[in-house]
Parts: sequence; C-alpha cells; structure tokens
Amino acid sequence: MRLFKHNWPVPKDRELTEMDKKILFYQQRGHLVPTPSLIKTPEQIEGIRRSGKINTGVLDLVASEIKAGMSTAQIDKLVYEYTCDHGAIPAPLNYEGFPKSVCTSVNEVVCHGIPSEEEILEEGDIINVDVSTILDGYYSDASRMFIIGKTTPEKEKLVRVAKECLEIGMQVAKPYSFVGDIGHAIERHAKKNGFSVVRDLCGHGVGLEFHEDPEVPHFGKKGTGMLLVPGMVFTIEPMINMGTWKVFVDEEDDWTVVTEDELPSAQWEHTFLMTEKGLQILTY
Ligand code: MF3
Ligand code: CO
Repeated sequence: MRLFKHNWPVPKDRELTEMDKKILFYQQRGHLVPTPSLIKTPEQIEGIRRSGKINTGVLDLVASEIKAGMSTAQIDKLVYEYTCDHGAIPAPLNYEGFPKSVCTSVNEVVCHGIPSEEEILEEGDIINVDVSTILDGYYSDASRMFIIGKTTPEKEKLVRVAKECLEIGMQVAKPYSFVGDIGHAIERHAKKNGFSVVRDLCGHGVGLEFHEDPEVPHFGKKGTGMLLVPGMVFTIEPMINMGTWKVFVDEEDDWTVVTEDELPSAQWEHTFLMTEKGLQILTY
C-alpha cells in the first residue's frame, strides 16, 4: 500500500477552475503535478520577462564581441559589467561557491566551465556561454553556442543538432503534456543524428529561485514526469555529446563538467513560460 502524495489541494474557498479540474484529473491517475507555488502570477511572469530581456542583452553583447584570441575571462568581464550597468546581478557569481559571473564551456567541456585569463579562444573552438540574471529578485537563464571562426563539419553539425534539440523540445511541450515528452523528443533527435544526450544534468524550473522544480531531463519516456500547466516557468537546456553521454567533474575546481571521452559537447538553453497555447520564450 502506498500513501498517495497529493500536491494540488482541492480549493475550499472558491469554485474549481478548469485548470484545477485538469490538474486533479491527472493527479488522481497517479501523475506528478505541480504544487501551486510553481504556477507563477502575472506579476512574477513580467518580472522574469524583464530579467530575461537583460539576460538576452548580455548574450547579444557576447555575440558581438566574441572572437579568436579573446580569453574567457574577458567574456566574464563583459557579462559582469553589462549586467551591473542594467541594475541586475549575474546569478552564477558566488552561487554555491561558483567564482565567476558566467559559465564558459569550450569544446569537450559540457557545462559549468569557469572563465579564466589563461583560456584563449582559438579558431575552430566551439563554446557555450551560459548567462543567468537576477533582476529585482527574478531569475532568468539562457545559453548559446558560438563557433570561433571556422570549425570542422562534425562540430558544426553538433552545434546545429543541439539547437534543433532545444527547438524540438519546445514544440512538444504543450499545456497538459509531461516533462518526459520533452526529453523523449530531444533524445530521439540526438540519437537519429548519431549523438548522445547528457543524463547527469537537467533543465529546471526557474524564476523565483535559480533552480526550482521540476527537473527537466533531456531524455526519457513520453507521459512521465511532471504535468506541464500554464503559468509554469522552466528551462530546457539539452547538452548533446559527439561521443559518449558520460561525463565527469574536474577534481581541481569541482565545477567543470567534461565528456568522459573528451569529444566535444554542445548546449543551447532558453527560459520558457507555459501558456495556454504552448511555450513562450522569456529569454528573447
Ligand atoms: N546556468 C546553469 C544552468 O543552466 C547553472 C550554472 S550554476 C553556476 O542551470 F554556478 F555554475 F553558475
Ligand atoms: Co539552466
């Protein structure tokens, strides 16, 4: 016998809305459903959207400045200064001890790369720049890949397929679909292209905190995981590897995540709002 954990309370002080009815329907069938706290108010959504605008401004600035010969510490400086100049805070800085304002992950680095004066971008490198912003307490989170000059066709394809994985994940996430539908679609597209999906790191709810529920794996089975309901805000951020999906964490800094076979990895990320019609990007 299993005690069923109800997390969508039956409202006592008001009539059931259509949304209550749908959530209770899935809950009764044993699905994981959001808690009310995961459904953002219109005011919170606007706050996250404003944060997302600054986050996008940061990424656009990086896009216009990034080039061969630049250090990843220079990217960190751009991010820090632009963010502060706009009255915001870089979310990574001091987050669980992270020492810089942005994650810069080059070639075989999957994510959480730490910017450094010693790391100089070279022609042919592929780099993920992962920017997260706090504005008035609201968090946004997005990342893009940049190709430095010209790279190999294989790395170009990896960057393109990783972007397609994000787009496909976005398309399948409809209201009253499931988190697992996203992962299923992403994994299928990656595998079809001969690539693998990192399993140790996931997308996540975001907005009032940096990382909230639900976890959003980029692999999995349709119809599993949390029910997706209008008002939820979360990231999709598939990390796609050229070789094995396996990764390890650099022992020296305890942050940098690297592919086990040291083949390249690519990642794209947006913060999304679930609406009645599907996902809307809050980091455009
Ligand atoms: N931006 C990352 C994410 O997409 C989190 C980085 S945590 C940090 O969730 F501390 F490394 F910045
Ligand atoms: Co994220």
